[in-house]
Amino acid sequence: MSSNEMRQFVLAEVPKGKLSRDNFRLETAPVPTPGDGELLVKTRYISLDAANRAWMQGATYRDAVEGGDVMAGGILGEVIESNDPNFAPGDLVSADGGWREYVVLSGKVCQKQPNIEPKTHLMSVYGVTGLTAYFGFLEICQPKAGETVLVSAAAGAVGTMVGQIAKIKGCRVVGTTSTDEKCDWLINTMGFDAAINYRNGNIYKDMKEACPDGIDCYFDNTGGEILESALFQMNMHGRISCCGAVSSYDGAPPQGGPRGVPGLLVVKRLTMRGFIVSDFFEGSSVGTRTDAINQLKDWVDAGKIKVLEDIIDGFENVPDALVGLLAGENKGKRLVRVDD
Ligand SMILES: NC(=O)c1ccc[n+]([C@@H]2O[C@H](COP(=O)([O-])OP(=O)(O)OC[C@H]3O[C@@H](n4cnc5c(N)ncnc54)[C@H](OP(=O)(O)O)[C@@H]3O)[C@@H](O)[C@H]2O)c1
Repeated sequence: MSSNEMRQFVLAEVPKGKLSRDNFRLETAPVPTPGDGELLVKTRYISLDAANRAWMQGATYRDAVEGGDVMAGGILGEVIESNDPNFAPGDLVSADGGWREYVVLSGKVCQKQPNIEPKTHLMSVYGVTGLTAYFGFLEICQPKAGETVLVSAAAGAVGTMVGQIAKIKGCRVVGTTSTDEKCDWLINTMGFDAAINYRNGNIYKDMKEACPDGIDCYFDNTGGEILESALFQMNMHGRISCCGAVSSYDGAPPQGGPRGVPGLLVVKRLTMRGFIVSDFFEGSSVGTRTDAINQLKDWVDAGKIKVLEDIIDGFENVPDALVGLLAGENKGKRLVRVDD
C-alpha cells in the first residue's frame, strides 16, 4: 500500500442471518482530498455499536447500509486538512465517518471535541453511550430512590451506564445478561443488586425472584422475551424506556410480540416511550447535552461512575469486533483503536 492509500471495509453483502466477518471486504482506496467546506479526518478510534447491525436491516434514523457501501460507524478522528474556517489541523472531531482510515467530511457533520485524556472517554461516557443512558433513563424513567430498576444488556456500553446512574439515584438495580460470569461481574464489580442470566431458560421466573417487589422502571435495550417478561412484572405507573431491540438485530426480523402491551399499559397505567438520544440534546427536564456532559463528568471525577472500555487494537479487527459485540463478548464500551 502506498503512502497515499488507505484501508476501508465495505459491507460486501447484507447478511441474511447472523453477521459474520465474511460479510465484509477489506479494500484499499486513495486517501481522499477535501473540497470547499470539507475536512480530511484521520480515524483514531472506531465505535462499535449494536445499532451498526440494525442499520443493515433498512432505513432507521439514518439511511440503511447496503451491499457495496463502506460500512458506517461512529469515529473519533483528527483533522489533517481543513477547508472549513471552524476547524484546524489537529482538532479532534467525532462523526459518522465509517470504517476507513481516512475520510472526507463536511465540517457541518463533524462535532469538535475537547482534548481530554483518555480521549476514549469522549466515546464511552461523554459521547452517544453515556448520553443515551443519561437522557433515556433520567428523562423517560424519572427514577425515585427506593424504586426497582431493571436494565437489559446490562453489561454492555449503555447498560453499565444506566445501572450506575440508577444506583446514584438510590434505586435497587437488576440487570440481565448472557452468562453467569457476567452476572457475577455485574453484582460484584458494578454494584448491581441482582442479575439474571436470560439464557437460563426461565426468564419470567428468574425475573420474579430478582425483583420481588415488581419493577418500577425498565430500561429496554433488547426487546423480545425480556421486554415481554418485564411488562408482566411492571408495577402500577411504571415507566419503560425503549432504547433499542438488540435481540432482533442479528438475524431475521422478529415475528409479532411482545404479548400484553395494550392491556397492561392501560390497566397498570404504564408509560412506554422510545427515543433517539439526539432528541434531548437541545433540552429536556434533565438539561441539555452540555448539562448532561457536565453531570457525567462530575460523577466520573467523584468516582461514582466507572468508565468501562473494551478496546481492541488494529483496524483489521473491526468486523470481528462487531461480530463479537453482538455475541456478547464485551463488557462496557467496545472500541477499536486504529491509530493513537
Ligand atoms: N435510542 C438511542 O438513541 C440509542 C443510542 C445508542 C444505543 N442504543 C441501543 O442501546 C442498546 C445497547 O447498545 P450498545 O451499543 O451499548 O451495545 P452493547 O450493549 O455494548 O452490546 C450489545 C449487547 O447486547 C447483548 N445482546 C446481544 N444479542 C442479544 C440478544 N439476542 N438478547 C439479549 N441481549 C443481546 C450482548 O450482551 P449479553 O452478553 O448481555 O447478551 C451485547 O454485549 C442497543 O439496543 C442499541 O440499539 C440506542
